[in-house]
Amino acid sequence: HEEFTKVKNIATIELGRYEIETWYFSPFPPEYNDCTKLFFCEFCLNFMKRKEQLQRHMRKCDLKHPPGDEIYRNGTLSMFEVDGKKNKVYGQNLCYLAKLFLDHKTLYYDVDLFLLYVLCECDDRGCHMVGYFSKEKHSEESYNLACILTLPPYQRKGYGKFLIAFSYELSKKEGKVGTPERPLSDLGLLSYRGYWTRVLLDILKKHKGNISIKELSDMTAIKAEDILSTLQSLELIQYRKGQHVICADPKVLDRHLKAAGRGGLEVDVSKLIWTPYK
Ligand code: COA
Ligand code: NA
Repeated sequence: HEEFTKVKNIATIELGRYEIETWYFSPFPPEYNDCTKLFFCEFCLNFMKRKEQLQRHMRKCDLKHPPGDEIYRNGTLSMFEVDGKKNKVYGQNLCYLAKLFLDHKTLYYDVDLFLLYVLCECDDRGCHMVGYFSKEKHSEESYNLACILTLPPYQRKGYGKFLIAFSYELSKKEGKVGTPERPLSDLGLLSYRGYWTRVLLDILKKHKGNISIKELSDMTAIKAEDILSTLQSLELIQYRKGQHVICADPKVLDRHLKAAGRGGLEVDVSKLIWTPYK
């Protein structure tokens, strides 16, 4: 694919109160080829070549949060659902922005087919984007997440695990199991491994008696293959009489849980107001 060989073009972006160094190439339209810095409107995500253009834009732009529906609010944290078809320009802008931090993922600029879940920290100036994930409206492969990004200034604070947890809460509401689209980046895999480990081991710790992978999958909306690979990598699976058996010595579970890192920010499901896309 052409994008692989391209050299990073945009070196820095301005977004809200942050100046952010970029990580990878992103295929901005040709008229931006001569810039090394871009200025984004933090609300509509339109991007401009010059600071003065952005300042002029900010006086006119009346968005104070992402377009679409606010489907979750807990304290200062809000999640907006944006339909890529109804908000095409926003969706494309978000793709250009996200690709600056995503390496090997093919980005779908055909945003019509996706819903975007944009996480914001809100204050009296507006709702400031922290990160997002995209989700196909209809996935044949039971993907519940296509791309995930926490913007660099907000990374390593638990937002990634929040976004992952949120994607599984949506799957639970749909009554489906889900899995992230592959390939995952190194940081993506680390975040997923951490999330899966914590969720599964918390259940195993509390549960009395045997539990099957199918039951774990029903409780968590995590796809059986992902449960199996997580428990296998932790050496918690034995193969007996043609069946996978989960071995859950409490001391071993505690050790793995400690190693799995922090739990991330909690999703309070009672604050999620959402019905599946039809
Ligand atoms: N170094 C080592 N481990 C890291 C890490 C880093 N820089 N960043 C994240 N991790 C691991 C840790 O295990 C962390 O848990 P811990 O902090 O409890 O130890 C876990 O991932 C998740 O951390 P969290 O703070 O919840 O995630 P995040 O908000 O930093 O977001 C990503 C994680 C993957 C969304 C973020 O790194 C990102 O946007 N990366 C660029 C885009 C990308 O690669 N997306 C995935 C494509 S499939
Ligand atoms: Na993708």
